[in-house]
Amino acid sequence: MKLGVKKAAYNQYKVGTASAVIIVLGDKKAYQDAGKIYEGLLALGILSKQEYDQEIQDVVSLYEQRREVFQRDEAIRNASLSAMLFMLAAKSKGWDTCPMIGFDPEQLRQLLSISDQYEPVLMITLGKEKEQSRKPRGYRKPVDEFVTYV
Ligand SMILES: Cc1cc2nc3c(=O)[nH]c(=O)nc-3n(C[C@H](O)[C@H](O)[C@H](O)COP(=O)(O)O)c2cc1C
Repeated sequence: MKLGVKKAAYNQYKVGTASAVIIVLGDKKAYQDAGKIYEGLLALGILSKQEYDQEIQDVVSLYEQRREVFQRDEAIRNASLSAMLFMLAAKSKGWDTCPMIGFDPEQLRQLLSISDQYEPVLMITLGKEKEQSRKPRGYRKPVDEFVTYV
């Protein structure tokens, strides 16, 4: 399995040496779980049954009207937030991570039996940084190059 994942990642060295390799998937049909997610608010009485039903209908129709591109965009947005949180949580526990897109999603789909419902968004290698090999950092984008105040 590990060799297959490394091959799907174009034989990148770190995929073979990492303690773990995580494939972050985005769920393109996550909106279909809205009912389950809102059940807590219904149980707490924060939403009435009528409000609950309306909310679910609104969510489902929003995603269905906007169709596949939006559903995929949303899957990527959500998975990216989860990936970043995972990386920060890993760092806080003493691990180092590397987000990666250098992989063939179709090879991963076949190897790991990933259905069409899911989008392979990121690969994350997790391990311990070899500090002796740390190189000086290159260019770091200044904030004002990517943040605009209006
Ligand atoms: C979306 C994304 C995809 C990346 N894909 C790869 C990759 O496939 N292989 C790789 O070695 N580095 C990849 N990188 C770069 C590393 O994850 C990392 O950012 C880089 O080694 C610099 O690390 P630093 O920001 O801690 O200095 C990617 C970075 C980003 C943001």
